[in-house]
Amino acid sequence: MKVLIVGSGGREHAIAWKLSSSPKLTKLYCAPGNPGIGEHAENVAIEAEDNDRIVAFAREKKVDLVVVGPEDPLAAGLVDQLSNAGIRAFGPTKAAAQLEADKWFAKAMMRHQAVPTAEARVFSDIHAAVEYINTRDEPCVIKAVGLAKGKGVTVCHRTKDAVEAAGKMLNDRAFGDASSRIVVEELLHGPECSILAFVSGRTVYLMESAQDHKPIDDGDSGPMTGGMGAYSPTPVITEAMLQQVQRDIFVPMLDGLAREGIEYRGVLYAGLMLTVNGPKVLEFNCRFGDPETQPLLMRLKSDLLDVMLAVIDDRLDQIEVEWDARPTVSVVASSKGYPGAYQIGERIAGISAAEEVAGVKVFHSGTTLHGNDLVTAGGRVLAVTAIGDTIADACARAYEAMGKIHFAGMHYRRDIARQVLHPVSR
Ligand code: AMP
Ligand code: GLY
Repeated sequence: MKVLIVGSGGREHAIAWKLSSSPKLTKLYCAPGNPGIGEHAENVAIEAEDNDRIVAFAREKKVDLVVVGPEDPLAAGLVDQLSNAGIRAFGPTKAAAQLEADKWFAKAMMRHQAVPTAEARVFSDIHAAVEYINTRDEPCVIKAVGLAKGKGVTVCHRTKDAVEAAGKMLNDRAFGDASSRIVVEELLHGPECSILAFVSGRTVYLMESAQDHKPIDDGDSGPMTGGMGAYSPTPVITEAMLQQVQRDIFVPMLDGLAREGIEYRGVLYAGLMLTVNGPKVLEFNCRFGDPETQPLLMRLKSDLLDVMLAVIDDRLDQIEVEWDARPTVSVVASSKGYPGAYQIGERIAGISAAEEVAGVKVFHSGTTLHGNDLVTAGGRVLAVTAIGDTIADACARAYEAMGKIHFAGMHYRRDIARQVLHPVSR
């Protein structure tokens, strides 16, 4: 089969790496890809958001399957366009992708389906937002309603910070149209967990659990990023909680979508907070998470291509999905300044040495080639991912490998997965 992956991050590198081991694969393309992906696929110079050219390319090359990595093309209807052109695609339709692209759509559906989540209200008018924030006088979370690359969320412990965050989003349009509406949400407490599922209509298959680390600095301090590291599985979620998540979150959400005439096909990702009152939804994503995909796919033993085809063809209930029992840890290295303005073009050294550490694979996120030199090209640059017999072992390997990589201004968290090894009181 000829497969085209859309995207250029660490998630897409992990997908390319995994798909490249499928005996069914005859040719792999990636648009636009990156130098790491280029080791497994032919990179094609088409931007991930250029839906028209992607459809034209898939048609010209007679691609059998398009796998869409990021949320933007999904929200813009790439899967609908591909289906209309008779090309099979892995990912939800535009209507289904609203679960991520419009946080208020997701919130309204959760409310309607009685899915546990934080109390919230939506505002487009700054005066009304400020008035509400002032009356609440409690810590809250301000979120841009639209897509903001994981950065459109501010956790505000003081009323003053909430007012400021609302102003930045609604008045200064910090995220453009994505922040023309904001959600003001109750602050929840507890450990976080990412539960990703393969979904095919009403069939849900929960993948192994994972935990992301969103703030830029150790101890979960500093501004939110797209994710600075993840590991799988996480002991913060129990088997009983997972069953609850399936029954009280995934099933009612898919029922709610079906009632609106929307069938979900692809990966559905629930970002959860495990509160004293049980798991509550922080957000839905309509795709694989980045960086969760890196540790998850390193544990997937089944052929990812088979699983994707089963999702598309409604055979998900007929296949076995197998996982390596060993845990995996992925640590992200970012550029100086990220998640604010960051510098690029710094030479990256040491990836081959890092990959000599047993069980380690380095997934590229924001990298590019300048001549023969690999240089930084994004906020998140790469994710060092390792498998080990225990979380501690996987962690030690990932950090040993990270120690061999260097670029100017390189930053990474030293506590990925380590909170669970040495829990601090919350
Ligand atoms: P989201 O993109 O909505 O998952 O939010 C990004 C991050 O903000 C989450 O991973 C949490 O760390 C934090 N967050 C979002 N919503 C809440 C909430 N209601 N209470 C506490 N923290 C939150
Ligand atoms: N890791 C969070 C995300 O993919 O949105």
